Amino acid sequence: MFALSARRAAAPAEVNGQMIEVEAEESILQAALRQGIDFPYSCRVGGCGTCKCRLIEGEVKELTETGYLLTAEEIAGRTILACQAVPRGKIRLQVDLSRPPARQTLHGKVVGQQKLTDDITRLEVQVEQALPYKAGQYAELCLAGLPGIRRNYSFATPSTPDGRLIFFVRKVPGGLFSSRVNDGALLGEEVEVQGPLGDFFLRPSDAPILMVAGGSGLAPLLAILREAEGVERPVTLLFGARQEADLYALEEIHALASRWKAPFLFVPVLSEPPEGALWAGERGMVTEKIVAFHQDGAHAYLCGPPAMVDRAELLLRERGVPRSQIYADRFLAGPPASERPAGAEKTPAMFTDYLKFFLFHFIGLLSVLAILVGGPSVTVGLIGVVLAYVLGDALLGEDLSTPHYRRPEILTAQLWMALPLLTMVVFSALWSVSPGDVLGFGAWLGDLTGHD
Ligand code: FES
Repeated sequence: MFALSARRAAAPAEVNGQMIEVEAEESILQAALRQGIDFPYSCRVGGCGTCKCRLIEGEVKELTETGYLLTAEEIAGRTILACQAVPRGKIRLQVDLSRPPARQTLHGKVVGQQKLTDDITRLEVQVEQALPYKAGQYAELCLAGLPGIRRNYSFATPSTPDGRLIFFVRKVPGGLFSSRVNDGALLGEEVEVQGPLGDFFLRPSDAPILMVAGGSGLAPLLAILREAEGVERPVTLLFGARQEADLYALEEIHALASRWKAPFLFVPVLSEPPEGALWAGERGMVTEKIVAFHQDGAHAYLCGPPAMVDRAELLLRERGVPRSQIYADRFLAGPPASERPAGAEKTPAMFTDYLKFFLFHFIGLLSVLAILVGGPSVTVGLIGVVLAYVLGDALLGEDLSTPHYRRPEILTAQLWMALPLLTMVVFSALWSVSPGDVLGFGAWLGDLTGHD
């Protein structure tokens, strides 16, 4: 908390001989792009490795753990991720800028809007000219009706010469862009498309392919499959959804499978089929099926929510799949935090959102009380605390909401309040098992409450 709030001074950086200034709270990538360097990048959140560069001189502070993306040799050779590094003083960097810039900005209109499921809409955009891209990549979209709001979506079909682009947009609770696409009437609305972006695409090989998709993560995988029609590589496609109604594009998948020149196994997996549903397919989390369906030597292509992709990657690594044979695209629900205007796309926090942070204090006070009352209340209190957490977790599930807290000082206060409370819990516990009356605390409490 303190490290985040400490402002550092701007620092000079030399990128391939060109001097730039990295402002406080800017990553090296942000500074380079702002100053006109066509620095390679894709995810901007430390997930893809596109912004790798070599630190020739100086030191940087890394904002996230990069060991999972960089090999030991790269780390030893001072490779860093420019999107996840800030300079500590003057630095000198080298980056490969030789790739021809393929990104372009095109304008177009929404020409199609079709519900695929309750919360996924197929958005069809016609741009002024063809936009060449590799199936699996994505573009940044900006609707005329939401100026300044830009969101990334993968192309759901391979590039075509007629400039017709298809995206699958999943509705994010509270998301301005995704709600507008899913609930608004967009036909004819102007769109700006910037792309292609990303390095998620099919790599040439003869190895079997394992694809794992969650929700709208199916889009780039469908595009890849359609573009790869004709290759003779066995494919296993695991598609995770909550319920049967959340499965979509099934006809297209079956048609692709029937035309595929090698074995093609499609496995839909439902995580929450309703009680008694006549679902004969796989149940559970889609990642749980990886071990059963992964073929030795297969290259993995993972696409969906970050938690799903991370879990899939971990399972594959545990099975001995080298990192170089795993390709992943994490679908973040919204823009990177660094680009999010304060409070944008978030619902304001309610009273109960603040209140939940005080659960710890409530339970802590009860614990102190139970310890001080002594006797069986210690056991009853302990069982109560454990039950409260276990049952609360089991019945209420995970709380993944991220509302906008307009009064962050309340959260800071609860954080500080935890310190004296923890001290009280520890002291009460030690006092209750100590011989004698430590610091005369028992006598003082007896005088105060009349309780022995
Ligand atoms: Fe830096 Fe993706 S752009 S890791």
